Amino acid sequence: MTNEELIALNREYVFFTWATQSQVHPLVAVRSEGVYFWDADGNRYLDFSSQLMNVNIGHGNQKVIQAVHEQMQKMVFAYPGVATEPRARLAQLLAEITPGDLSKTLFTLGGAEANENAIKFARLYTGRQKIITRYRSYHGATAGAMALSGDPRRLPVEPLIPGVIHVMDPYCYRCPFGQTPETCHRECISHVEQVILFEGPENVAAVMMEGVTGTSGLIIPPDDYWPRMREICDKYDILLIDDEVMSGFGRTGEWFGIDNWGVAPDIMTMAKGITSGYVPLGAVIVSRAIADYFEDRPLPMGLTYSGHPVSTAAGVATIEVYKEEHLVENAKAMGAILKEGLEELKEKHPSVGDVRSIGLFAVLELVRDKETKEPLAPWNAKPHELGVMAEVQPALRERGMYTFSKWNLIFVVPPLSINESELQEGLDILDEVLTITDSGTK
Ligand SMILES: Cc1ncc(COP(=O)(O)O)c(C=O)c1O
Repeated sequence: MTNEELIALNREYVFFTWATQSQVHPLVAVRSEGVYFWDADGNRYLDFSSQLMNVNIGHGNQKVIQAVHEQMQKMVFAYPGVATEPRARLAQLLAEITPGDLSKTLFTLGGAEANENAIKFARLYTGRQKIITRYRSYHGATAGAMALSGDPRRLPVEPLIPGVIHVMDPYCYRCPFGQTPETCHRECISHVEQVILFEGPENVAAVMMEGVTGTSGLIIPPDDYWPRMREICDKYDILLIDDEVMSGFGRTGEWFGIDNWGVAPDIMTMAKGITSGYVPLGAVIVSRAIADYFEDRPLPMGLTYSGHPVSTAAGVATIEVYKEEHLVENAKAMGAILKEGLEELKEKHPSVGDVRSIGLFAVLELVRDKETKEPLAPWNAKPHELGVMAEVQPALRERGMYTFSKWNLIFVVPPLSINESELQEGLDILDEVLTITDSGTK
């Protein structure tokens, strides 16, 4: 089938997520290898956002493909009540690579289900109901996970589950408390404690935050943010839940985003990089104390596909790939080069207001005016409000690159297997495309 035929067939029968259906102009993908994928007409694209920030090990890794194949030959499916080797081995590996005493795992199919179950763990263990999350956050699209998300994607489908309270973000470029680095007293941290007090600490089960905020703007917290969240939670016996669905598995140059600040949460959720998208999988890992709590109480959670043998076998192989190919280390080394390259683009282009970058997890925030920081497209921009930002995706495609962008943000989240020349190829394309967005500046 040609590109045109594939697009027509998809448009006829398939919903495209988060999109006004008549306005989608999808890329076509038929095969992939390393940091590239190809459409049906043979055009090659540099995958600068690892599909949906999940193909961390890169495309076409034979070790993982082989592990999936072998598990399928042995036994495709075993129900969750059965003990299997891949499920136990993966859970053991997760206990080894996660911080603190995170030690026992419940497997899910993706990130939203992981977060749904994380708040169940927190509510059952503490006997409290309320969950505090941030406005600029995304935790998934099921009812509970959507309620946890401050992201405007929740707005058309509210009301969702009760008991979620949103707080402001450590968004230094546009400080919600009107501070600058010189005047900052970490109002973003004291604000969280204040909200806890207003809500009654005895009612708050957990504070849940992304290790490093992903699609809501790639917000990297100040260095004392996570340590002080840990202190505040401990002070009020509140659990700290770390959503590592996007920032986990080497993405930030450490195994998990939170590892950059040496903090151990009580519960961590993950998905995406756990199998690098080769097959669906998510997980919630909890501390020893929470695990022990369920030794003599029933665990009211379950999914037909919890611990699917093929998914967990892929997970084991994926973690081995991260280790054998030194991908976490490569993310750190290539991340330093990426940061430098993006800073140069910021210097050169009037439309680049801010660069936020940690490991191979980066964003360019585009502005109309560097002084006033007026965004090049507004928060939660509708398609007709995108202005020159609407030209970004077609311009990238024309130059053989795909990366995730929304509103006034262009994300750079390539596979962790990327090398310097591939990185440079992407930076050169971005350099050209930014001349287009520069035309939208004052
Ligand atoms: C931080 C974070 N949490 C949760 C999710 C939801 O994961 P899933 O789409 O696998 O349900 C995402 C998805 O992008 C995410 O980025």
